Amino acid sequence: AAWEKQVRHSSTPRRPNGFSVLVTGAAGFIGSHCSLALKKRGDGVLGLDNFNDYYDPSLKRARQNLLTKHQIFIVEGDLNDAPLLTKLFDVVPFTHVLHLAAQAGVRYAMQNPQSYVGSNIAGFVNLLEVAKAANPQPSIVWASSSSVYGLNTENPFSERDRTDQPASLYAATKKAGEEIAHTYNHIYGLALTGLRFFTVYGPWGRPDMAYFFFTKDILQGKPIDIYQTQYQKEVARDFTYIDDVVKGCLGALDTADKSTGSGGKKKGPAQLRVYNLGNTSPVPVGRLVSILEGLLNTKAKKHVITMPRNGDVPFTHANVTLAYKDFGYKPTTDLATGLRKFVKWYVSYFGVQPRVKKETQHTEESG
Ligand code: NAD
Ligand code: UGA
Repeated sequence: AAWEKQVRHSSTPRRPNGFSVLVTGAAGFIGSHCSLALKKRGDGVLGLDNFNDYYDPSLKRARQNLLTKHQIFIVEGDLNDAPLLTKLFDVVPFTHVLHLAAQAGVRYAMQNPQSYVGSNIAGFVNLLEVAKAANPQPSIVWASSSSVYGLNTENPFSERDRTDQPASLYAATKKAGEEIAHTYNHIYGLALTGLRFFTVYGPWGRPDMAYFFFTKDILQGKPIDIYQTQYQKEVARDFTYIDDVVKGCLGALDTADKSTGSGGKKKGPAQLRVYNLGNTSPVPVGRLVSILEGLLNTKAKKHVITMPRNGDVPFTHANVTLAYKDFGYKPTTDLATGLRKFVKWYVSYFGVQPRVKKETQHTEESG
């Protein structure tokens, strides 16, 4: 079938010993960036995405168009469709899976809890069931989340810190994913690597995230809510730039092979590994807002709420020593630099212009 031909074509590696990677959530923010990076270095990439409307699907379609230009095909389907997944693994001998499809977002879990269970637990199990039966068995790298640390107070967060106090259902499903991964590694010998991403931002980002809708609201002169902790302290996040995260994902894939241990050197049984992929430099949300104000030349109408947002944790801060040791992960983009790149993309994608400063306007009018 034409469909099968497309699938085979796009998932055939172009470099010697290149990978053949199934990227789930390929129309998503992180998935689209990773797909392009893998393709660029010569790996074969096939995408899977259900194009759900958690946020404006037209942005997912625009990312898909970008991928299409680079000969990356996205199969439109759901993680829970076992016959479809089985068929994909029958047609393509995937060496790796980069599993990024999930119901993301912390707050939406209070509106639609079942979507988290459906994609992050049932969907993940469905994928693992198909992967365990596939021949060859692929190595799997999947998205966990910094949210698993929940109310952990160690600062910074290390992979060994406690993760038994999730603050949201989202976090609980991501934590469940880590436990489920453990069982598939233990029983079936699947090689599994979990990546705990820390509040990832950048061009083509997610409209449900604060930096994205703050930009929109500041440009439109609408008020923005800034949540504090119950102690009226500023909430801080270890905002991580997308290019750094992409490098981390590729590094994790490179060292994910079944027969390789830490650093890809030791031979041993299939691994279950978990890594922080953060920026190692938490920034208060108020600082995020002032950077945006500067980039947009516009004062935000700030509405400070002296209560935490339901499901929020007070701070996140990654220790990334382990990812550095095992695959050289080293974040290099600070928040101001990364936000500049985001704003540049934003104004071009939406065709808007940041307002000119008042003084400048005055000069132009009188001149
Ligand atoms: P995203 O929502 O942009 O991407 C996820 C994609 O998966 C979407 O395109 C969606 O349509 C697809 N999808 C969802 N459920 C599906 C299903 N059942 N079947 C098929 N496709 C489905 O989110 P993102 O920011 O790119 O996040 C990618 C992964 O990283 C997610 O697992 C998320 O939980 C995790 N994560 C993201 C961040 C972040 O700050 N962006 C931080 C920590 C963890
Ligand atoms: C983000 C992603 O949305 C999750 O999918 C991901 O799993 C998580 O990162 C992670 O690192 O694991 P979050 O950090 O809550 O979650 O991202 P935002 O929703 O963009 O919030 C960022 C910060 O802005 C938070 O401190 C939040 O309290 C604050 N915020 C958010 C506000 O002050 N006002 C708002 O209106 C919204």
